[in-house]
Amino acid sequence: MQFDSVNYETHGTTALITFNEPDKLNALSTGIRSGFCKALDQARHDDDIRVIIVTGAGDKSFCAGADISGFEFTPSYAKNFIDEVLDILALAEQINKPVIAAVNGYAFGGGFELSIACDFIIASEQAKFAVPEIQLGLLPGFAIARLNKLIGRQQAKYLSMTGTKLSAEEAKDLGLILKVVPHEQLLTQAFALADELASKPQMAIRYAKSIYNRELGGDELTYAKDVMPFLFLDDDTKEGVTAFREKRKPIFK
Ligand code: COA
Repeated sequence: MQFDSVNYETHGTTALITFNEPDKLNALSTGIRSGFCKALDQARHDDDIRVIIVTGAGDKSFCAGADISGFEFTPSYAKNFIDEVLDILALAEQINKPVIAAVNGYAFGGGFELSIACDFIIASEQAKFAVPEIQLGLLPGFAIARLNKLIGRQQAKYLSMTGTKLSAEEAKDLGLILKVVPHEQLLTQAFALADELASKPQMAIRYAKSIYNRELGGDELTYAKDVMPFLFLDDDTKEGVTAFREKRKPIFK
């Protein structure tokens, strides 16, 4: 099945959701955003599906984050964009079935955030993780809301204030991900974990997810929705985004 730019397959009790715009590194285009929502909805309502795997098409990228080519610098665009993207990034936390991110390459920006919203991350040894928004004058609102608890305040601030890129092993050392596997075994290992989860009593699995996720809170995301749109009105952001589009280094004020 195809939902916009997202492929959807079922394999027994597992749904495999694949972002499918590899030429654009599976950045969160309109087609990937809408397709992801529809695919998750399909999995949510299919009683035969117990576990969901999310991955990216191609060898290079899981998801390179928000679609920078579509950015505009008006208050209404910024507010709508931030509201929509933060809601989409939180979807994997909210669905009542376990979600595994099988990270096949770049998990940058929104791709990083989408992966940490999943219950488990299995990464190819080729995977790279970063929240590089600072280079655009922006911030990773969802990651900022979640990273304190995941990796501690020091590392969280360091990653989001510098945009430092992590290898899969470095991400594992920080406790961001469950395991690193050889690239060609990524989906096999993700399906093995899915089968293991699917073999357990499902009511207990779903309660476990909701009990763990209760502590995520909600205030930080609401705050991010309120303040992040202002970043789009800053001259340094216009420069950062323009520089990315022109494939040059930004010159910040
Ligand atoms: N939005 C839109 N297009 C993107 C994109 C994004 N987030 N990330 C990559 N692309 C596009 C590039 O513009 C390029 O398109 P082109 O072939 O038409 O020129 C294509 O995907 C390949 O990317 P490229 O930068 O050439 O690949 P690379 O291997 O040299 O670098 C990255 C890969 C991920 C390091 C680099 O693309 C990058 O930094 N992307 C932006 C990540 C980011 O800042 N995300 C957060 C956004 S808020």
